[in-house]
Amino acid sequence: MTPAPYSPARFLFGGDYSPEQWPREVWREDIELMKRAKVNTATIGVFSWAMLEPREGEFDPAWLDEVIDRLASDGIGFILATPTASPPPWFTVAHPDALPVRPDGTRVLHGSRDTYAVSAPAYRAAARRIARYLADRYGHHDMLRGWHIHNEYGTIDHGPHAARAFRRWLERRYGTVDELNRVWYTAFWSQRYGAWDEILPPVQTQYLHNPAHVVDFKRFCSDEMLEAYREQRDEVRASGSRAPITTNFMLPTWNHLDQWTWSDEQDVVSIDHYLDTTSADGEAHVAYGADLTRSWAGGPWLLMEQNATGIRTGDHVVTKGVDRMIRNSLGYIARGSQSALFFQWRASAAGSELWHGAMVPHAGPDTRAFDGIVRLGDTLDRIAEVATAPADGVLGDAEIAIVWDAEGWWSLETPHLPSDAVSYSDEVRSTHRAFWRSGYPVDFIRPGGAADRYKVIVVPALYAMTATTARWLEDFAESGGRLVVTFASGLADMDQRVVGGGYPGMLRGLLGIRGEQMFPLPPGETIELSDGSQAGVWSELLRVETASVVAEYASGPLRGCPAVTRRSVGSGSATYVSTKLTQHSLDAFLAEAAVDAGIEPTLAGAADAGIEAVRRRGAEADYLFILNHSEAAVRIAGDGVDLVSGQRDRIEIDAGAVAVIREAGQGWALEA
Ligand code: GLA
Repeated sequence: MTPAPYSPARFLFGGDYSPEQWPREVWREDIELMKRAKVNTATIGVFSWAMLEPREGEFDPAWLDEVIDRLASDGIGFILATPTASPPPWFTVAHPDALPVRPDGTRVLHGSRDTYAVSAPAYRAAARRIARYLADRYGHHDMLRGWHIHNEYGTIDHGPHAARAFRRWLERRYGTVDELNRVWYTAFWSQRYGAWDEILPPVQTQYLHNPAHVVDFKRFCSDEMLEAYREQRDEVRASGSRAPITTNFMLPTWNHLDQWTWSDEQDVVSIDHYLDTTSADGEAHVAYGADLTRSWAGGPWLLMEQNATGIRTGDHVVTKGVDRMIRNSLGYIARGSQSALFFQWRASAAGSELWHGAMVPHAGPDTRAFDGIVRLGDTLDRIAEVATAPADGVLGDAEIAIVWDAEGWWSLETPHLPSDAVSYSDEVRSTHRAFWRSGYPVDFIRPGGAADRYKVIVVPALYAMTATTARWLEDFAESGGRLVVTFASGLADMDQRVVGGGYPGMLRGLLGIRGEQMFPLPPGETIELSDGSQAGVWSELLRVETASVVAEYASGPLRGCPAVTRRSVGSGSATYVSTKLTQHSLDAFLAEAAVDAGIEPTLAGAADAGIEAVRRRGAEADYLFILNHSEAAVRIAGDGVDLVSGQRDRIEIDAGAVAVIREAGQGWALEA
């Protein structure tokens, strides 16, 4: 049975709240300000282990009882975290073996956070104990909105506990050392193992690691952390608490987890998302994070953290204006978030993150930033009805899907591929960005996922895949889909073994080509294709077998050879792009693929006008979100009412502002 979609009565609004850093007068002001901003949710306890369990096995919940009472008596709900991302100093002193070890053998000590060896039995026992304690004490509170297990799983340990657990994992996977030797190809470089005990995590080595070893360790780490999550989740469940359970993923560069598998184990999927650029591309980044998470979740999800006032860019923070903060928050919601939550409620006065942005900045509530938070609270109140999700949980109307696969990412990070300049996340993201720029809604899909509703599927740089995935792609094309596969895909199987006889071995028949040799390009070198596109990084010498040539290389070492090919497959087609198109060329190429497939953008002309239009399905109506990222007001005409401004049918949206239109019909047009 498909579980009901996560659908709270109102959007959760608020953020991480760590009152333990403040005296009681501040707690009183916090509640007043939360009420003023219509905050309805505080995430508490994320890093409170040392306060909650000051000595091993001795708990001190009085302060948390008081925090919860104060919130609850003013109608503010809470998400309760288990504090296991940050073990207290007493824990590491008592259990030095539970400290994580880096690949070079350095043991990391306490004094920061996230310092734990996830496979250490003492850590796991302590984590279960505190999770159960919290669940027994607070799990039935009627203002408890959810469980936030741990925080951003992702500390990787290479020490003895990890080695033991890794060997157990390998034994379950391979059964015998001989089988492992076969899969890992250990005949080369004298790597043959005689016993399980000889195998280590991929620690510091003299030269290159074995790629199969590296990818298996990534798989193991994801599984091992998932097991640790499950143990806490099960403790919470065993207490009888019925509040939804999640753990917050970190995007965009955190690649320690297989999010598809993890998502299946949560009641609601949540992420933390921090913009990685101050440019307009930040808005595309919001859409990327949100589309990925909605896809992992298969429906509504939670934005657990974002920054209210700043964007960290390399070595400094750039201020995020109020309009942008509101547009970004609504951008996530348009794509299925049931929340606008922030890190954190009040800016710390000291400590490690004292300069991190907050809902209440250092200067206090009499600020532009806090006024913005009040405005956002008011906006969320006006659009509250949107939070009721449709019963099937599907929120968008995307007809395009991009394949996303954690194992594909891990495979493309193995050492010494033909070019180190290929980044999986960049390829996936530039594919998404191209569709975002032309205003098409997009989902992500796991290999083998339900593909029926899509007209176009793009497979960016999926280096390793199974034969089942190849067949699934073939079925999609056979039944009328347009498949676009980009360079560096299908070269290896899941054991990181190149499939011989011509590239890309996993997809040769489907694509109707035979690649002979890679011609990676030096950094910065650009080549042209016969259709006017520009490309770089990668090119391939290939010949067509059953495909036809769409574009040739017009410059570079492969001038005159096929660059882009297309094969008719059943009632659909399979296109191969053997080089890395520049973003500009990729934008045009993928927009054309969408047009060819007869897909309409959400609102014609929106992209050119600098606005973003996203449709979110609700239980009773569809809602058209308009985010005006431009510096001019825009007007759209159609049939419906803007829940934010109250305007009907002809709706003007100021520069930087938002509209959320309850649609009576979908025929909206931009007015000049
Ligand atoms: C993460 C953490 C928070 C905080 C922010 C800072 O998302 O969960 O505790 O450190 O990063 O951006």
